Amino acid sequence: MFFDRFYSRPEFQPWQAHFKQVIAQRTDPKRHGDLAAWLEHLNALPEIAPSSIDLNQDTIRIGDSSDLSTQDQAQLGQVLLNLSPWRKGPFQFFDTFIDTEWRSDWKWQRLAPHINSLHGRRVLDVGCGTGYHAWRMLGAGATYVMGIDPSMRFLVQYLCAQKYIKSPSFDFLPIGIEDMPNPMPSFDTIFSMGVLYHRRRPLNHLLELKSLMRPDGELVLETLVMDNLEDGLFTPENRYAQMRNVWSILSIEKIIELLNEAGFNDTKCVNQNITSLDEQRSTEWMTFHSLREFLDPNDTSKTIEGYPAPKRAIFVAQI
Ligand SMILES: C[S@@+](CC[C@H](N)C(=O)[O-])C[C@H]1O[C@@H](n2cnc3c(N)ncnc32)[C@H](O)[C@@H]1O
Repeated sequence: MFFDRFYSRPEFQPWQAHFKQVIAQRTDPKRHGDLAAWLEHLNALPEIAPSSIDLNQDTIRIGDSSDLSTQDQAQLGQVLLNLSPWRKGPFQFFDTFIDTEWRSDWKWQRLAPHINSLHGRRVLDVGCGTGYHAWRMLGAGATYVMGIDPSMRFLVQYLCAQKYIKSPSFDFLPIGIEDMPNPMPSFDTIFSMGVLYHRRRPLNHLLELKSLMRPDGELVLETLVMDNLEDGLFTPENRYAQMRNVWSILSIEKIIELLNEAGFNDTKCVNQNITSLDEQRSTEWMTFHSLREFLDPNDTSKTIEGYPAPKRAIFVAQI
């Protein structure tokens, strides 16, 4: 039922049978013990009409404190807390500020000056998390954003924001990049941020992204990188900064080489940044361990496993 509006979108008609099938598999309650409880929390959100929506500032703002009663404030705050941990943001839901684990606005600030204007463009955000950046893409003028992410918690957090924003222009599909039709040349700009190192075959990921782009499309790729690598490739033996599913980290030169091999051109690395303890940290909305605990306590230039600390780079490429 959450996807009915998406299923009726005419531009995706040729692929809707496929989407229905993969979304039904991904959302099968047998696969997600917690989903029913999260949806119950969602249903407990109070009905409030926001007096304003702002998608064009560092914080995604939905209404303000004058829009709701004291009783609604308490109920809203409790539901949002029940849906913790909140990792990507920040968001302001009426009187409640969600200080997420990540200052996702900083990544947006780093990439925004380097990409083509999103005005009038149809956009795909692969691995969209809570939808924070996808909301920013709409705020920056995109006509339509599809966000895909297999995490059900992120789906529910998106639905919280969507309950109040009521945007017909942002669909979150709880699927992975591997579930997308191939080819489906539908998007003017594609973002893949924080996903490449989770994919076993980096070149395949780039080819999948290319198969979803319209002619003259732009790719914005953000990923972990490492310097001084032999052959441009690092494969952690086990975890990297406590993350289990990091298959490989590449050098900047290797990523540019793979982008070119995949058929992209005008490929540029536009930003490099070592993640700071202010950008990724525990907060009252994400109380588990965060970057500080993933680094060597005696030498924060190293991860707890002894590898170079997380450094991320942003690439822009065209077809
Ligand atoms: C490091 S987070 C990055 C989130 C966001 N894009 C950002 O830059 O802040 C990686 C995201 O990719 C999602 N993800 C993991 N495997 C994926 C896949 N196969 N296809 C699409 N998204 C995936 C995860 O659920 C997670 O939300």
